[in-house]
Amino acid sequence: MLRIALIGYGQMGKLLEETAPDCNCQVVSIIDPQLKNDINPETLNSAEVAIDFSLPGAVRENVEKLAPLCPYLVIGTTGWSEQSAAIRNLAIEYNLGIVYGSNFSPGMNHFYLLVEQAARQLGNSPEYDPWGLELHHKLKMDSPSGTARDLADIIISASSAKTEAQYDRVKRPISTEELHFASVRAGHIPGTHVIGFDSEADSIELRHTAHNRRGFVLGALQAAHWIKDRPGFFNFRENFREILGISHET
Ligand SMILES: NC(=O)c1ccc[n+]([C@@H]2O[C@H](COP(=O)([O-])OP(=O)(O)OC[C@H]3O[C@@H](n4cnc5c(N)ncnc54)[C@H](OP(=O)(O)O)[C@@H]3O)[C@@H](O)[C@H]2O)c1
Repeated sequence: MLRIALIGYGQMGKLLEETAPDCNCQVVSIIDPQLKNDINPETLNSAEVAIDFSLPGAVRENVEKLAPLCPYLVIGTTGWSEQSAAIRNLAIEYNLGIVYGSNFSPGMNHFYLLVEQAARQLGNSPEYDPWGLELHHKLKMDSPSGTARDLADIIISASSAKTEAQYDRVKRPISTEELHFASVRAGHIPGTHVIGFDSEADSIELRHTAHNRRGFVLGALQAAHWIKDRPGFFNFRENFREILGISHET
């Protein structure tokens, strides 16, 4: 059994604890402000890999504290892209193994590839204008979602027409270079992302709907096995087939 430290004991942390034994993992440490504890050798309890599902503002400090104590880390928390360079530098300085991702669900990682293919194909047909929409539960702390940012990056890289994402409301016509991506927060939605391509004649839509959080949790636990003894700074999206054991022929 892989010994896991959970950093953050909210909705994701609690489900991770419940699901860990299904993936040959054992939660040996839980760190969360509500438990009034902090990261130190005693609380980590010889954990081999830490999994962070906390808050965007907490991630950098958590990595700093974990660096000398637990060198392998899965970061599922989203919304820390401004700290990305600093965290990458910590990974280099301490020879850490970090795998991070805005969305660990296998379905979403397939969806990324489908959106890339659609954006590439429709990028040659300028009459199809791409857009995005993401919906999440009312307690989500960041907006847009990290997954929305990844999807926008994919569309912008794959299509020459769009050069920047616009996540805000605009009080002017949207420019042809902008990709408009909107966010909705309501109720208990685990995560829905819709990508559309609209033309005068018709529209094409691709939708990914998470029915619950189990896919995220299983992906995070598989990432924990993969990152152990593997120093480097890895994006889950770029390695998902290997992490999830999906053959390249599929
Ligand atoms: N990558 C993925 O596949 C994926 C999937 C789902 C969600 N997420 C992301 O995962 C993160 C957590 O989601 P969630 O739904 O579990 O949120 P949540 O229910 O709000 O849980 C976050 C927990 O982290 C705690 N926390 C705050 N600061 C901390 C610190 N310094 N150290 C340890 N724990 C700390 C919070 O405590 P307090 O309440 O006391 O602040 C809370 O208990 C979000 O960023 C979300 O976007 C990622």
